[in-house]
Amino acid sequence: MPHQSMSHERAAHTLEEFFTGHRAVRGAIRESDVTIAHLRLGTYTPEVTKFDALEDTYLYAQLIARALSTATIHTITDIGAGSSIPTLWAIRSVGGWNGRVEASDVDAAALDVSRRNAEKTGSLAQYAFQHASLFDVLPHLVTGPGHLIAANLPYLPIPLPSAGPDMMTVNGGPDGTQYLLPLLAHPMEQGTLVALQWSSLSDPVAVMRCIERSYAVLSVTAHQTPFGMYTNANPIRAHLEQQRREGRAVFSTNKAGEHAYMFLGTILQRC
Ligand SMILES: C[S@@+](CC[C@H](N)C(=O)[O-])C[C@H]1O[C@@H](n2cnc3c(N)ncnc32)[C@H](O)[C@@H]1O
Repeated sequence: MPHQSMSHERAAHTLEEFFTGHRAVRGAIRESDVTIAHLRLGTYTPEVTKFDALEDTYLYAQLIARALSTATIHTITDIGAGSSIPTLWAIRSVGGWNGRVEASDVDAAALDVSRRNAEKTGSLAQYAFQHASLFDVLPHLVTGPGHLIAANLPYLPIPLPSAGPDMMTVNGGPDGTQYLLPLLAHPMEQGTLVALQWSSLSDPVAVMRCIERSYAVLSVTAHQTPFGMYTNANPIRAHLEQQRREGRAVFSTNKAGEHAYMFLGTILQRC
């Protein structure tokens, strides 16, 4: 449920309380900090899809690796898997893992990239690929202890007139929550783990409320990042400033007028 408009200060304060309450690990990252070399899979340099925000992919890969180290997992359902670099990287970084990965994406070309990356790293037998939207995946989602539901779905608030096909990899709807809230609110068996990447731009108060209603929060990371290619482009930047005025996006502005927001990584357990 979208909340009534609140001040940006109040939304920022609520987010800070969430960080403090869950001992968030803080960091900072810039687009230029991560190159494909950071995502190499052994000697193989993986293929990327048209979503090439490598710092976002890298943080999501680390999030999945942390989730794999948190509990015994036998199945990862990666929704909006893109290139599958995050699961392939995470599995290597924990020293190997024998479970199954169900990778789905609405973009068939992305799944072709996924398949090639899994094949070139000798991991194809662990993977099943499904060309489907989140909304087709949810009704059949298998959950419960041992299942990790992982998602780095589009979470940027994009104003409706800009929401064309070229924005498909980042468009989280006008407030950034069009995928986050349905996934979080979906019924899941107790004990299911959820590794979710999102941002302080994506109506964090609404997302936190949804999390606190149904999950125990196992870990939170918050990486500050300057506005970049999408977020600085108008009319998206102007839309985000409006979202901030309404308390639906949290970001800071320095003396030079440059904005910075946060990538958020949460590992949750369904209660
Ligand atoms: C932010 S990118 C992340 C890709 C990959 N997980 C990563 O971290 O590099 C979002 C992905 O979600 C996919 N996507 C967009 N809308 C979707 C939907 N309705 N259902 C499933 N996947 C979707 C895009 O094609 C894209 O691959």
